[in-house]
Amino acid sequence: MRDAYIVTSVRTPGCKRIKGAFSETRPEDLISFILDAAVKKTPALEKKEVEDIMVGCAFPEAEQGMNIGRVAALMAGFPVEVTGATINRFCSSGLEAIVQASLRVMAGWSEVTIGAGVESMTYVPLGGHMPRPHPEWTREHADLYTSMGITAENVARRYDVSRADQDAFAAQSQMRAAKARKEGLFAELVPTPAVRYVLQDSGTYQKETVLQKVDDGIRDNTTVEGLAKLNPAFAAGGTVTAGNSSQTTDGAAATVIMSREKVDALGLTPVARLKCYTTVGCQPDEMGVGPKYAIPKVLKMAGVDIADVGLFEINEAFASQALHCIRALGLENDMDKININGGAIALGHPLGCTGAKLAATLLANMKRKGVRYGVESMCIGGGMGAAALFELC
Ligand SMILES: CC(C)(COP(=O)(O)OP(=O)(O)OC[C@H]1O[C@@H](n2cnc3c(N)ncnc32)[C@H](O)[C@@H]1OP(=O)(O)O)[C@@H](O)C(=O)NCCC(=O)NCCS
Repeated sequence: MRDAYIVTSVRTPGCKRIKGAFSETRPEDLISFILDAAVKKTPALEKKEVEDIMVGCAFPEAEQGMNIGRVAALMAGFPVEVTGATINRFCSSGLEAIVQASLRVMAGWSEVTIGAGVESMTYVPLGGHMPRPHPEWTREHADLYTSMGITAENVARRYDVSRADQDAFAAQSQMRAAKARKEGLFAELVPTPAVRYVLQDSGTYQKETVLQKVDDGIRDNTTVEGLAKLNPAFAAGGTVTAGNSSQTTDGAAATVIMSREKVDALGLTPVARLKCYTTVGCQPDEMGVGPKYAIPKVLKMAGVDIADVGLFEINEAFASQALHCIRALGLENDMDKININGGAIALGHPLGCTGAKLAATLLANMKRKGVRYGVESMCIGGGMGAAALFELC
């Protein structure tokens, strides 16, 4: 197979569900904006040259239903000939979309594709509006439907991740994100229109738009002492809190992928290529352990030593699972390589967008630091892990 090159990878800010800046911005607007921005940031690329757009979405229903991939493509102004699909692998959907889009180019079937992701957890909450587990099968297999918070409690308990360690990890995530925001290190972030409906004197609402420039969930005043005071969010006597869990968030991200021939024809300088990708299953009631299996598997497939990986983005669904995976991978003394600008505890985890968002962040950091190999990984509801290895061009 030939290589597929990533030339542009961008994201909207991540903004808190309901309380944040995108609470009145529909998911179609978020994803179509970032698709448009990704093309505009790719010099010489015209929308008609993109063949297919894959959009990750974990709960593709209601406002983000009806094949959001196709809806977003047309709303973003791509010609009707450009197709769109929705990809769902829960928390890795955005990464899966980048992989599927890359594979199309690697197979020689397309010259230019886009892999993207979107989730408005304001419009469609975690779990969707109407979950309907199978009535008989679930009697024997209820673990598949375990609340994500309880899976995090299970990981903390089974693998001895203390509350103090979870809170210290969470505080570090917040501090790193606050520093990165202050120093303008989120090069992949595109200021994005946020809609507000403002009550007028007449009693009607006026639609207004402001430019949202930052991730609004970061709490730069976080302390471990403050975190230690929070009550458990999911289980009485538990250790998983609002402070050491990922935030529920709205956001979108997009990555433009093309063949070497197209890169050369447009005179572009590619950022990176997707070297390898894999997924692996684990017990649903401790789904957070996924990365500890997926990362070694992808590195073995690629023949790359973990010591040669310069940067990791390991999704912080919860501090308990992220920390357990980091320990199991023998990376506890390599924290300067992991989530260097903070993770989902501070920046949010907009489910189906997250894989695409983390790719944008990882690639921006690899470029800034000149790192050859970067790994992106996450745990996935239902009991899975995914991992991708990117190589800087
Ligand atoms: C845990 C959870 C239920 C909390 O939801 P929430 O109540 O909306 O969380 P918030 O971020 O608003 O925090 C609630 C309160 O906790 C406290 N808090 C949160 N983070 C804090 C921090 N870093 N320092 C101090 N206090 C903090 C604050 O008092 C905050 O209230 P405030 O915003 O009015 O100040 C939600 O974030 C969640 O479900 N997370 C996991 C999502 C998930 O499962 N994703 C899939 C993973 S696979």
